Amino acid sequence: MTDAPPAPYADALHRNAAGAWTRLGVPGHQDQPEHHPCLASLAGPELLAVDIPMFTEGVDLPEPGSTEPSPLQQAMGLAAEAWGARRTWFLTNGASQGNHVACLALRSLGGTAVVQRSVHTSVIDGAILAGLRLEFVLPSIDPALGIAHGVTAQDLDARLAAHPDAVAAYVVTPSYFGACADVDALREVAHARGIPLVVDEAWGSHFGFHPELPASALQRGADLVISSTHKLGGSLTQSAMLHLADGPFADLLEPLIVRAMTTVQTTSPSAVLFASLDLARRDIQLNGLAGVGASIADLERARSLLNERGRFVDPDPSIHAAPDVIALDPLRIVVDTRSGGTPGYVARRMLEEHHQIHVEMATDSCIVGLVGAGSRLDVDYFVDALHALPVMDLGEHPPIHLPPLAERAMDLREAYFSPTESVSASDAVGRISADSLAAYPPGVPNILPGEVLTQPIIDFLRSTAASPYGWVRGSLDPAVDHLRVIA
Ligand SMILES: Cc1ncc(COP(=O)(O)O)c(C=O)c1O
Repeated sequence: MTDAPPAPYADALHRNAAGAWTRLGVPGHQDQPEHHPCLASLAGPELLAVDIPMFTEGVDLPEPGSTEPSPLQQAMGLAAEAWGARRTWFLTNGASQGNHVACLALRSLGGTAVVQRSVHTSVIDGAILAGLRLEFVLPSIDPALGIAHGVTAQDLDARLAAHPDAVAAYVVTPSYFGACADVDALREVAHARGIPLVVDEAWGSHFGFHPELPASALQRGADLVISSTHKLGGSLTQSAMLHLADGPFADLLEPLIVRAMTTVQTTSPSAVLFASLDLARRDIQLNGLAGVGASIADLERARSLLNERGRFVDPDPSIHAAPDVIALDPLRIVVDTRSGGTPGYVARRMLEEHHQIHVEMATDSCIVGLVGAGSRLDVDYFVDALHALPVMDLGEHPPIHLPPLAERAMDLREAYFSPTESVSASDAVGRISADSLAAYPPGVPNILPGEVLTQPIIDFLRSTAASPYGWVRGSLDPAVDHLRVIA
């Protein structure tokens, strides 16, 4: 372990916790497990000792009188080095915070950004916060599997040509299904127009740490990368990172990010979350080859066993065939359960009920599982459980065709703050939506605040909601009988 990379923040936190402090500040439990037994039962009394206030000298701040960077600064510096960034910020409100920061920073460059339509809701909220106008580029859709992928460089280029005032291109890769878009090509298109490429790499925080993993967005030249380290990167839930590349837009973006971080970061970020980021980085550096290699090997074996047994059609070739997809995350497994006689949403429920297997998500056609970097899977148990699923009489499975995008009648932010009313679905046609609604599958927002509701959009939302597997995110009621519109 002598060559082990350091974890300066976590080490400083442990040193601090070992001190015989009389704590007269926040947090109010003041590391007194005997007087807060219920809280201490959560994860042992040690948790209280490391839950220290922000701005603790020798942890978040330098030691008194020291000119050295503080352990927190050192930890963020080591993360920047590990991911290949000029600068990395630790986040305690998930990748959502990173998207809010990115939108606020971009707004200082101008009013418009070209954004993948299927960006996470935190990008839409970030745009509302910032007053950023969004113009959309559609992701490709697999109509049979009902899943959305990413965008092609060609489509991005066309949208940028139509919106020459755009100050950034903003995409999501990898997808929820682990499909990776061609970040090199997307970056070239954005840079050719003199604007930065922002990549929401929430699902790819582990990329680049093993030769069999896809290269990371930073390695492929993205300018600003939002990373949900807690997803597959191994840190605690809610902890994430924002990486600024050492590229042509770094000088421009850095002060804007610093300011935006101050706007949306809590003044009491959790030391436990910060330390988990420091340690997850250390773990992946320390165990990357062996640990991540073992995770990949487990999933490869699961895939090959499934293919050998032949009940389920391998969906990977179909995903790979999408025009935007250049690689698949090997730490994801998509199982087309429907091809083996069980709808995905039924498979998910039965795996939970009968085998205590929890998968990340399910659609009508498939389930999606993942193995975090360095975690392991009991492959035989999983594969046997899949083969224990009942073969059912499957109903119709219509391919998914998204309705045409709506016209925008009102600015996103203006719509967000306007008075609203609830109307029936039939009365909503032609009205301006106050909400963001996305039918799952495939989860691409069908309507955003400020856009005009059309009959095909409402029909699509309602028919998806009425199916046994579908649901509509953002809806007032599960059946989408009512919609919130601008009054
Ligand atoms: C693409 C994408 N970006 C951002 C987020 C938000 O991440 P977090 O939950 O860490 O805030 C998610 C969450 O699932 C996501 O899928």
